[in-house]
Amino acid sequence: MERKTIYKLAGAIAALAVISVPALGMAGGKDLMYHLQNRGDLGPLNRSDIAYLQAEAPAPTSMDGTINASDWASTYPYIVTTWQDNNKNSYVTDYLEQDPYLTNIYEGYGFAKDYGSARGHEYTLTDVAKTQRPHPMANCLTCKTPNFAKLVNDQGVAVYKMDFNEVLGMMEENISCYTCHGNEPGNGGMLTVTHSYVRKALGDSMSSIDPANLACGQCHIEYYFTPEDKETMMPYHDVAGMSPEAILAYYDSFDFADWTQEATGTKMLKAQHPEFETVLQGKHAGLLNCADCHMPIEQAEDGTVYHSHLLASPLENETLLSTCVSCHGDTDMVNMVHRIQDRVTARETEIGNRLSELKDTLAAAVASGNFSEEELDAVRRLHREAQWFFDYDYVENSEGAHNSELAMSCLDTAEAKINEAMALLGRE
Ligand code: HEC
Ligand code: HEC
Ligand code: HEC
Ligand code: HEC
Repeated sequence: MERKTIYKLAGAIAALAVISVPALGMAGGKDLMYHLQNRGDLGPLNRSDIAYLQAEAPAPTSMDGTINASDWASTYPYIVTTWQDNNKNSYVTDYLEQDPYLTNIYEGYGFAKDYGSARGHEYTLTDVAKTQRPHPMANCLTCKTPNFAKLVNDQGVAVYKMDFNEVLGMMEENISCYTCHGNEPGNGGMLTVTHSYVRKALGDSMSSIDPANLACGQCHIEYYFTPEDKETMMPYHDVAGMSPEAILAYYDSFDFADWTQEATGTKMLKAQHPEFETVLQGKHAGLLNCADCHMPIEQAEDGTVYHSHLLASPLENETLLSTCVSCHGDTDMVNMVHRIQDRVTARETEIGNRLSELKDTLAAAVASGNFSEEELDAVRRLHREAQWFFDYDYVENSEGAHNSELAMSCLDTAEAKINEAMALLGRE
């Protein structure tokens, strides 16, 4: 499979051609992706400065045959060290404390009990083990560890339904090399999709998506568990299907709900972190990938040039900030992004509180006995939709930075549906 992707760049930005190297095929028939060493210049250091090694894979020391980070340490000392540095990102915001309306709108669901912000990849197993949200099945491990992806690849989808604690005991590493590179990082750092549901959901349309977006898109996505197998799955088949409208239609098509809210009777959806979808519908789609903005290219004292595997905020990293200049010129990027985030966050608070009001009003209407089931169902429908649009924006971790237009349009749609629902209940 040989691929060629053309990036169309707006205005003054020159068009860059990215040509793949032929995929080499991996044990188990998984698709091998290409790296992007021929991509244009963004910062002081570029992919063309990286000496891509063709290194022999070390023997795995894990129990399941994944080659782990410490196995790669002598081949890629800087990459392994910066990968470990993800433990420096340990700060957690308690969203339920910050935004008290959440406890009400998520009533009856795990997120009403425990919902803190994400932190670095070095905490995934610790955090999943200690969350107060219930996790009856092993499918909660999907996005935490390469050992789970390997287990699915070896044993098939039946493992999603296994007992959480039983499988947790078999997990050896937090998100690691195998997650994004399989056992092949020796191959110049080739990227590969190891999470099988990505291939199932996206199929051929994977070839139109930048591999460094796909790598993160294995987890930083909206997903659901299939009703039969409890398999992790993405609710679309291509980029066009990633809009909040299209995903809602997908869920509606088989009457999917994450839970039914007790007080209102609404069949609710809970969105998860759709960073991948939001970026791919945004202004940088086709221009930049997740690595361009979150993995700075650094030079070690011995001259080695490499992608830092500490997944940083571009606002807090000088190397990343210096790459914005090539398109944004002398704009104060930190200020620009913060202004967007402040605007989006203020609007989230406004709409979140309105949703909470709608929930209370609907719950009171249900309890009053003054409305027919048909009337209530019409309101529940709007309630489900309003909360879906709110959540699609709220749970996206960039707070509008990835795509402010989409963030604002989600909140506008949510507001319109809340108003419609309130009117049906005789409130404004
Ligand atoms: C979360 C996904 C992810 C994980 C985990 C990960 N990598 Fe990477 N790796 C990437 C991405 C993305 C790139 C950059 C690809 C590009 O050029 O756009 C990359 C690049 C590389 C490269 C190419 C050289 C370079 O500096 O660009 C090597 C080698 C590499 N990784 C090795 C490793 C090793 C070893 C580990 C485990 C310690 C690891 N990676 C873990 C995503 C990951
Ligand atoms: C195997 C699943 C998986 C993959 C692949 C993955 N992530 Fe993550 N990521 C997570 C999880 C889970 C967390 C939250 C960890 C926690 O809080 O314990 C997280 C957290 C993060 C955070 C910290 C967020 C915060 O609020 O501090 C950043 C940044 C991040 N990921 C970026 C990336 C990028 C960029 C890529 C691709 C190069 C990537 N991730 C690939 C699962 C993944
Ligand atoms: C044009 C640059 C750009 C691209 C491309 C990009 N991001 Fe971001 N990302 C940002 C900015 C800016 C923020 C906000 C950082 C902050 O608030 O400090 C952010 C925030 C995040 C966060 C929250 C981190 C935190 O510390 O709060 C995650 C997770 C994330 N991005 C993942 C991704 C993933 C996954 C992709 C690819 C699908 C991606 N990003 C593509 C610029 C980018
Ligand atoms: C390859 C060119 C390019 C680079 C490099 C680039 N951007 Fe952009 N960025 C754009 C374009 C084009 C737009 C859309 C401008 C518009 O619509 O007016 C944009 C818009 C934005 C927006 C507004 C997005 C929105 O939806 O409101 C943010 C935030 C942003 N960029 C952040 C960054 C950051 C941070 C970096 C560096 C880490 C960066 N960009 C690097 C091309 C680039």
